[in-house]
Amino acid sequence: MKLFNQDLPRGASSMSYAGLLERLEILRSTLRWASRLDRPDIEKLLRQANAVRDEVMQLSHKERFVQAVGSQVVPEQPGERRQALLARSFVFEGTFGDNPRLLDALEIAEKAAPTDLPVLVDGESGTGKELMAKVIHANGARADKAYISVNCGAIPESLIESELFGHKRGAFTGAATDRKGKFESAHKGTIFLDEIGELPLQGQVKLLRVLQSHEIQRVGSDETIAVDARIVAATNKNLRKLIEQGQFREDLFYRLSVIHVTLPPLRERKDEIPLLLAYYGDEAAEALKRRPVAMTPALRAFLLDYAYPGNIRELRNLMYRLACLAGDTADIAHLPEDIRPAARTPVRSASPEPPASLAEAKRAASDEAERACLERGLKDVGGTVTELARRWDMNRSHLQILLKKHGLHSKDFRRH
Ligand SMILES: Nc1ncnc2c1ncn2[C@@H]1O[C@H](COP(=O)(O)OP(=O)(O)OP(=O)(O)O)[C@@H](O)[C@H]1O
Ligand SMILES: [Mg+2]
Repeated sequence: MKLFNQDLPRGASSMSYAGLLERLEILRSTLRWASRLDRPDIEKLLRQANAVRDEVMQLSHKERFVQAVGSQVVPEQPGERRQALLARSFVFEGTFGDNPRLLDALEIAEKAAPTDLPVLVDGESGTGKELMAKVIHANGARADKAYISVNCGAIPESLIESELFGHKRGAFTGAATDRKGKFESAHKGTIFLDEIGELPLQGQVKLLRVLQSHEIQRVGSDETIAVDARIVAATNKNLRKLIEQGQFREDLFYRLSVIHVTLPPLRERKDEIPLLLAYYGDEAAEALKRRPVAMTPALRAFLLDYAYPGNIRELRNLMYRLACLAGDTADIAHLPEDIRPAARTPVRSASPEPPASLAEAKRAASDEAERACLERGLKDVGGTVTELARRWDMNRSHLQILLKKHGLHSKDFRRH
């Protein structure tokens, strides 16, 4: 472990108050969470923790206060938290990004991984839930044991129990032989229960029993079999809402979410988009054996600002599409038609479903009128937002917010 090989800084002056506190926290969490430590290692860690604590105490109240305030004002160096994870030999499994909320999630994963506590990962589609499950497995003591993934939403309701817990020969039509289920296959390892919100209520009861007793019964058998599988579950549904609707058991929710990790959607970590575009642009070029594709400024501006409802998966797929369809340089025209800005259809024809309420109908109509007005205005001024703001006697930044809301780009209205 790298931590042991690092000499502690000698005077308090060599490290900030925040730095010392962080080091103390690392040492303590290593002591708390490491799966197996030999006595000399424990003693060494304790000695290091005591030395750091003494240094903290030696700082005068004033020094602590000034340094703590200073550390809040001075923004963290980019990459610092990631570097700290790396220094602690964290396995990223290809997860990247420096967004604070993503790092929060990774730091929770780091602490949870060495334990056997169940983890619930939630987030919109394509935010990296499965990747996070792999990260948790890879950083735990079970890393060299089985990692079994089950998509609860992809198995017909009648087969789910047999899939999870196995069955005895003759248990139902088609059960020609004894078969072990995913839980038994994950014994000593990790089982990833994807789309847990799709698990039917009957399956939820059985799963709850496994969580309580650490035993399973194959369908059609009375015999109980002990299983030791670490559970990581994922969902893109709001489980609390499903609980309110009676579709998900509250007791199971609390059992599964001892550690709860929420992955932020890409539109809330837009700072990550340039890095992801570069990474997946290169990956796509390599996979398709071609030179990386350049982008026109308009396409780049679109991709940096687009809301990505399908999150990182959508961004990745877009980069593959561009690498496949474009020549040396990709442009807006290479985007799929349904997201291409120029090809956008008005709100009414884009949403064939009738409005849910009168208020919703009013909102949609008002949105549509607002968008049409913005488009016409932009056309009139040849895409010059400042000029439009002046004509309409509006605050420029408010106008920008409205354009953003409708996914309109002033560049697309420039006269050439
Ligand atoms: N932080 C990240 N860095 C790099 N790649 C990522 C990151 N998060 C997700 N990805 C990539 O995005 C794609 C989607 O990730 P993943 O399958 O884990 O999402 P998901 O949340 O399970 O999606 P779904 O809800 O649709 O099942 C994968 O190709 C994954 O490698
Ligand atoms: Mg998934």
